[in-house]
Amino acid sequence: MRQAGRYLPEYREVREKAGGFLNLCYSPALAAEVTLQPIRRFGFDAAILFSDILVVPDALGQKVWFAEGEGPRLEPIESEAELSRLAPHKASIKYSIICETVSRLRQDLPDETALIGFCGAPWTVATYMVGGRGSPDQAAARLFAYGDRAGFSKLIDILVESSIEYLSAQVSAGADVLQIFDSWAGSLPENEFQRFAVEPTHRMVRVLKERHPEVPIIGFPRGAGILTPDFVRQTGVDGVSCDTSMPLSFMRDEISKTGAVVQGNLDPLLLVSGGEALERRVREIVHEMAGKPFVFNLGHGIVPQTPPENVGRLVETIRSVSVAG
Ligand code: CP3
Repeated sequence: MRQAGRYLPEYREVREKAGGFLNLCYSPALAAEVTLQPIRRFGFDAAILFSDILVVPDALGQKVWFAEGEGPRLEPIESEAELSRLAPHKASIKYSIICETVSRLRQDLPDETALIGFCGAPWTVATYMVGGRGSPDQAAARLFAYGDRAGFSKLIDILVESSIEYLSAQVSAGADVLQIFDSWAGSLPENEFQRFAVEPTHRMVRVLKERHPEVPIIGFPRGAGILTPDFVRQTGVDGVSCDTSMPLSFMRDEISKTGAVVQGNLDPLLLVSGGEALERRVREIVHEMAGKPFVFNLGHGIVPQTPPENVGRLVETIRSVSVAG
């Protein structure tokens, strides 16, 4: 998760050249290059397209920018009336630029390295569109959803439709696997989780499976906790990413039971500290999940202060314990 990025000096160099984060996302040669950087360094089994979940609101016509050192900013959409600022029919122009990165990557990557395409889940993307920025509690989107269900549902519907178009185009361009990031799923109460996380993701999975039955889809309902097995069954995802708080025993016993491939849940901060603590936890995860369909992964994005050599050590440790059983 976030395998490319600021912890790599070669990324920072390209990022500087691109002049702005979104420019980097919309420069196929440079975006392909930063996707390949961690693959060259570490030989991961899969590469994830370098882009961002906020490309979708940008393509829909909302103003999006990345304030240096502060994260994403958007001109907030605070009511149903403001949805008229969006132009869904124009989104394909920007999607096609990202898809050019995907085709380049499928050509440049080794055949055995899977290419993961992705987008944000409608709920998570909506939290940024409504709040205008990241927030610890996603209050603006929750208040919109509770106060004007019909209006908020229209926003979710626009995102479902456009995200299907976007992911489908990524598959046509060469993505082998798709991932849907619902990073803020955990801020929804159970009934709203059903309505705004499960349902929209299910609609996306249903259409994508009709169009591309061979392409596995991974969900990441971060913070979903004990609702995760139901999330898997009801959305129909083939794989599920677990955050750092998910107990390994629950991953092994309850989530695996759904038939989905489980991934996660190493704490990205263990990759910063490294050493014994990292090695010990890697062994615990691998041993606990032994015999279940499992993909080793972090529980959330890699952080900029991660020493690259710790990532190298991690890969060595996983490969040695997996071989040793
Ligand atoms: O993993 C990869 O290498 C693929 C690229 C990728 C990025 N963002 C690049 C990025 C992926 C898969 C994402 C997903 C994403 N983006 C999510 C969902 C997963 C998660 O982490 O919860 C979310 C919520 C976003 C929105 C977003 N983009 C935020 C909140 C930020 C700021 C965070 C920060 O660390 O500054 C971004 C910026 C961003 N997206 C960076 C990268 C490499 C850092 C930007 C930079 O280079 O300045």
